[in-house]
Amino acid sequence: MATKSQQNAQNCRDFTKTLHKTPYPALLNPPDNLPKEYTICILGGHGAAGTGLAKAYTQAGATGIILASRTLSALEETAIQLRTINPNIKIVIVECDISSNSAVQQMAHTAAREFNSRLDVVIVNAGFSGPMGTDIVAEKPEWFESALGVNTLGTFYAAHYLIPMLLREGTGTGDDIGSCGGGSFIAISSMAAPTVSGFGAHAHYCVSKAAQARLVEMVYEHIE
Ligand SMILES: NC(=O)c1ccc[n+]([C@@H]2O[C@H](COP(=O)([O-])OP(=O)(O)OC[C@H]3O[C@@H](n4cnc5c(N)ncnc54)[C@H](OP(=O)(O)O)[C@@H]3O)[C@@H](O)[C@H]2O)c1
Repeated sequence: MATKSQQNAQNCRDFTKTLHKTPYPALLNPPDNLPKEYTICILGGHGAAGTGLAKAYTQAGATGIILASRTLSALEETAIQLRTINPNIKIVIVECDISSNSAVQQMAHTAAREFNSRLDVVIVNAGFSGPMGTDIVAEKPEWFESALGVNTLGTFYAAHYLIPMLLREGTGTGDDIGSCGGGSFIAISSMAAPTVSGFGAHAHYCVSKAAQARLVEMVYEHIE
């Protein structure tokens, strides 16, 4: 019999009608209605998903990108890959621990300075998980602290400091993507968010991702 988590996972899969495992044409062919400047900010700008996201947006025609994380050398490696796609893209690399209020604030200052206080997409990709397969008694308090710090607090800091640069005057009905109605705030979630039992039900990660998901729901409700 399926656990609650397996049922939740199935419900989430059913919610998304079409699943893609490889990039489809709409992702590979740049849209022709992007604004002249289109800037992406990725917190957690390297690693499996971070590099893939940065490459996809570069392929799609982004003109500027901010890559932030704690490891500058790894961000440089992502930047090299982006320049092979578009040698003209403006890349700004920022050392930033997303669990630090002051570091994210400083990163936002850099973004404002380098991109004239205008962003089109902010992606919170940074994530922390300690070992899986544990229960609350076995989990270390420092894993819980790190998960909440990176996954939950970090998402709040990013929303707090960067959303003002996504907001636009306008109706949101224009053809010029991102020029009206504001940009996009995206957090990379996980099946952990609705998970409470069975495989992958390590509380520090699941609770922090559930809180992150609620935070993003509230961003949607709060920001018109
Ligand atoms: N891998 C999976 O199976 C899976 C499944 C579901 C969801 N996710 C989620 O997908 C996202 C990416 O996962 P991934 O597997 O691609 O992870 P990954 O390869 O380990 O990369 C994690 C990224 O987050 C950054 N990061 C970690 N801690 C950070 C901090 N304190 N401050 C700033 N940046 C930080 C890392 O950079 P630095 O280390 O340089 O800081 C790196 O760029 C995460 O949010 C994760 O929870 C992953």
